[in-house]
Amino acid sequence: MVNLPSGYTDTHEYAHDIIAFMHEPLAVQITGGIHVNDAFIYDAWANLPSEWTAWWGTLSSAQEAQKDLINSLRKEPQARDQDLPGRPASLSQWLEHIRNLSLDREQLVLPEEFSEIEVPEVLASRMVTKKLAEVRAGARYINHVCKSYGFTRVVDIGSGQGYLSLTLAAVCGLRVLAIDGSSKQIDGSRAAARQAGLVEGDQITHLTRFVTSTDEIGAEIETWAAGEKCLLTGLHACGSLSEHMIRLSTTVPCITHLAVVGCCYNHISPLSQINSLGFPISSFMRINKLKLSTSALITGCQAPTNWTHKPDSLFGRKYWYRAVLEKLLYDKKLVSQGPRPVWGIRTCDLKDFEAYATRALHSLKLEVGKDVVKEEIAEYEEKYQGRAAETAILWTLSVLLCRIVESVIALDRVFFLQEAGLENIDVLPIFNYQESPRNLMIVASRG
Ligand SMILES: C[S@@+](CC[C@H](N)C(=O)[O-])C[C@H]1O[C@@H](n2cnc3c(N)ncnc32)[C@H](O)[C@@H]1O
Repeated sequence: MVNLPSGYTDTHEYAHDIIAFMHEPLAVQITGGIHVNDAFIYDAWANLPSEWTAWWGTLSSAQEAQKDLINSLRKEPQARDQDLPGRPASLSQWLEHIRNLSLDREQLVLPEEFSEIEVPEVLASRMVTKKLAEVRAGARYINHVCKSYGFTRVVDIGSGQGYLSLTLAAVCGLRVLAIDGSSKQIDGSRAAARQAGLVEGDQITHLTRFVTSTDEIGAEIETWAAGEKCLLTGLHACGSLSEHMIRLSTTVPCITHLAVVGCCYNHISPLSQINSLGFPISSFMRINKLKLSTSALITGCQAPTNWTHKPDSLFGRKYWYRAVLEKLLYDKKLVSQGPRPVWGIRTCDLKDFEAYATRALHSLKLEVGKDVVKEEIAEYEEKYQGRAAETAILWTLSVLLCRIVESVIALDRVFFLQEAGLENIDVLPIFNYQESPRNLMIVASRG
């Protein structure tokens, strides 16, 4: 039974409310209906509730508003003491709604009978602190399940450098099949396994496979399992990989337990005419026509409460510059169709708008002095000078729904597993959210 937000006892009722919230015009707008980059083209600010924008206009800075919005996500009661006075009641209610609709992220305290995992130095020294904490928590849970059900095999998909796989093999005595789509990752994992003295083909087996559908990899897993039951896991199985794994857990006979943590929701492939396996995967979400834009999925990858607040940061400036530039390109009919080249913004590009625009135009193969003249760049900077707060607040609003988006994705996965007849389905906040915001582990078992 999934630990639902307080006030809910029925998963489907909760899901209906969260879908309805995500489909409200305001949520649709701020999660991509009008992208922050297009804020000045479509006047996104004017589309927000006027009493909110009027109030934000009375604050001393955009950062004050941003801090208040981000603080509003914190669930602990004392966080309310830091809410800004004078905030419109309708905004406070909306923020409360966001808090109340999100699945709890407070790290699960595992009972004492789940043995602690001490990772040997030869493996621990390869991991950063965050990864080590994730591996210890994940392995602790997986080891307990395996020991409780008396099986000895684990399949780790998206195993990367093998941090979890090797720990399970070396510390927990489990036989692990480590699968990753990248041969470089598998090579790194193999080398580390050798260093740790693990026997390839026995304690650990590596396989380079890019998992896209269930059939072939399912057969390979069956062969490796040699008739034994296995737990399927993946720590931060990105994008649709988590969904592929969830499907595998419902179709491959030897896989009887699942424990998967997702991430990079922006890499989830949506359901379409050519992709019948796309998101959402559950019949419930499909029947209820859940729709999340790519921007909304990107929102699911954010964790604004973990941002360190730097009032003078250049970071906020880039949204404003980008929106001004988009307006300039739009007005001059210079917006080309198709994907834009990717250009990494450097700190020096944010020195002033002219520096930013010059580099961006260059990457778009447009010429300053020909396609756009310097005077126009200066004119647009001047014109939108007073509106930097708008893009800063719009950006913050867009990421505010991060936990709701992640909750919807988790629910979709839960429903898919329920619909396939799996049992003991749960969503466990397995890691410390402050260290590892992608901390929801979907677990389930079969037969
Ligand atoms: C975010 S990393 C996590 C790695 C590892 N589980 C960890 O916690 O350190 C995701 C890994 O999944 C692999 N991967 C992504 N999509 C995959 C796919 N469809 N099939 C197999 N591996 C995939 C990547 O190569 C990468 O090593």
